[in-house]
Amino acid sequence: MDAGSYAGESAGIVMDYELPEYPGFHEGIRRAPRRESGLSAADKKLAVRNALRYIHPDHHKMMAEEFAEELETRGRIYGYRFRPPGRLWGRPVDEYRGKCVEGRAMQVMIDNNLDFDVALYPYELVTYGETGQVCQNWMQYRLIKKYLEQLSDEQTLVMMSGHPLGLFRSHKLAPRVITTNAMMVGMFDSNDSFNRAAAIGVANYGQMTAGGWMYIGPQGIVHGTFSTLLNAGRLKLGVPKDGNLAGKLFVSAGLGGMSGAQGKAAEIAGAVAIIAEVDISRIRTRFEQGWVSGIAETCEAAVDLALEKQAGKEPFAIAYHGNIVDLLEYLIENNIHADIMSDQTSCHVPYDGGYCPQGISFEERTRMLSGDKDSFRKLVDKSLRRHYECIVRLHERGVYFFDYGNSFLKAVYDAGVPSICKNGENDLDGFIFPSYVEDILGPQLFDFGYGPFRWCCLSGKPGDLDKTDMAALSCIDPDRRYQDRDNWVWVRDAKKNRLVVGTQCRILYQDAPGRLSIALKFNEMVRNGEIGPVMLGRDHHDTGGTDSPFRETSNIKDGSNIMADMAVQCFAGNCARGMSLVALHNGGGVGIGKAVNGGFGMVLDGSERVDTILRMAMPWDVMVGVARRSWACNPNAIEVAAEYNRLFGDTDHITLPYIVDDEAF
Ligand SMILES: NC(=O)c1ccc[n+]([C@@H]2O[C@H](COP(=O)([O-])OP(=O)(O)OC[C@H]3O[C@@H](n4cnc5c(N)ncnc54)[C@H](O)[C@@H]3O)[C@@H](O)[C@H]2O)c1
Repeated sequence: MDAGSYAGESAGIVMDYELPEYPGFHEGIRRAPRRESGLSAADKKLAVRNALRYIHPDHHKMMAEEFAEELETRGRIYGYRFRPPGRLWGRPVDEYRGKCVEGRAMQVMIDNNLDFDVALYPYELVTYGETGQVCQNWMQYRLIKKYLEQLSDEQTLVMMSGHPLGLFRSHKLAPRVITTNAMMVGMFDSNDSFNRAAAIGVANYGQMTAGGWMYIGPQGIVHGTFSTLLNAGRLKLGVPKDGNLAGKLFVSAGLGGMSGAQGKAAEIAGAVAIIAEVDISRIRTRFEQGWVSGIAETCEAAVDLALEKQAGKEPFAIAYHGNIVDLLEYLIENNIHADIMSDQTSCHVPYDGGYCPQGISFEERTRMLSGDKDSFRKLVDKSLRRHYECIVRLHERGVYFFDYGNSFLKAVYDAGVPSICKNGENDLDGFIFPSYVEDILGPQLFDFGYGPFRWCCLSGKPGDLDKTDMAALSCIDPDRRYQDRDNWVWVRDAKKNRLVVGTQCRILYQDAPGRLSIALKFNEMVRNGEIGPVMLGRDHHDTGGTDSPFRETSNIKDGSNIMADMAVQCFAGNCARGMSLVALHNGGGVGIGKAVNGGFGMVLDGSERVDTILRMAMPWDVMVGVARRSWACNPNAIEVAAEYNRLFGDTDHITLPYIVDDEAF
């Protein structure tokens, strides 16, 4: 083939021939630090060659230089030139072009994930979690949009690590998009290999909902964080089932993409919170959004304010501008009692900017990342060790500490602290502090099937969201279980709590029957013209979609938590049943090689076809997880699986375990 020919031209789905102007960068928008690449000279050439595949050969000479420069200065080729100028945001679905509603709906979700108000590093296509990207570069973004505009209801778009591989014929009940991110072959499934693959442009870290295009701002995590804190209070502090955390103090770190939910969740649960954050821009964002109520520049000011609010039992979230280790040292020195403690810095990538070491400012951290990586690593390790010592001291004084699914305990172990391991040597038997799933979310929610069900009103109308809130409320029986009562209260107060950032979306933890009945109800409302189309989904932090031994599956004790069969089955089953978008990722919130996780998106257009898919797919998506948890002999899951067999025995059946008495053999 000669240099000018291009197979894609015949299909008409190619990048525009003309190069767009190089866009400016808005002041004040956060930028990703330079990423590690460790590329050889040959790899660098390969990276540029790979990126040029999107570009017409007439421009290769010029673009090769531009891409090489980006690779050198940013560690990745983002193709900034191809970013559409100005702010991207999830517009009303009717404003997008497309041949089917799903194609237009996915464009809403993608643009919402890249909104300046929503994304962590919008120019680098990072939505949240320090490294979680929608796709790898802006050439892919443009091409994906073109494909989604062309997508018909008898085709499926295949996405591989952010690259749109192509449109393939399928059928009306098939997914419209199937996406995988960073699914590496086992022997290469490591951070080093991933960094190389990402730098040469063949791997994307999708986190969970970034690469699955279902991120809905920090609201997505608020409900889970709220449930975790409230149930921690019930389990560890003697808070009654109908009580809240009034007068209790929660201390943690991080006000970023997901961690930004901590203050809000604590306030909704009635607590006082101090959240340390080293980056003032993130504090300002959360303050302006009403997600923290006060800002303190010193530990003393933060603690004084917290004590005052605690005394008045007034829910109040304080952002402390500084390092979490400094704050914990202050608590120890001044004998301040916290009730619950956690951490939500990005410890899944501590050496890539996720964890800011004690003793340097956020700005110094960013400088060191692009220059002095070795010294930075040493500082991170030292700080994590000190951080751990503080937690041990506070734990001895009665504080309940849990790992918040950010690989904090693993990062401490990797920093050279084997005593954090249960067996004192390695992480094979887990850690001495629990993961929040092990103690709280697993037994109290996931084993029952309660998980992060969510929806987006694609019309963009707040009125549609109000109507869906009311409809969801009518589907919940608050007297069924205490979890239902919590969820009922949650959705009743959701509007008042001003949770929306970006598109008009809602999160509501629900179990399998709850998710199905709400989904069918919404589809009926779309059919009747009461609301516009709705995108359903969840994050991957759920009962069924994720195998993650340090997090989602940390309360599975039959040894199967090192297996990833469930996540893959969940993904495959959702494809088979026709969810609109189905995703499978490596890494998720805990880092490459540490989890396999999958998600879905389902567009409700009011049709009977969607009702049919919902009836098959919604229970499956949840019950695969309950069934697996039941087989692991988790008591609540066994109960739920047995009830499911009783109710749905004509079509479904879950294999139940005989209970084994350890004394009997
Ligand atoms: N528990 C969950 O349900 C859940 C869900 C998603 C993500 N996560 C994990 O939680 C972590 C945070 O996610 P995110 O999206 O908020 O990431 P993020 O990178 O957007 O935010 C982390 C924040 O921590 C701050 N920080 C880093 N080191 C600090 C220090 N020493 N002291 C004070 N502040 C510090 C950073 O400045 C940043 O703002 C990630 O590891 C992510 O994978 C957890």
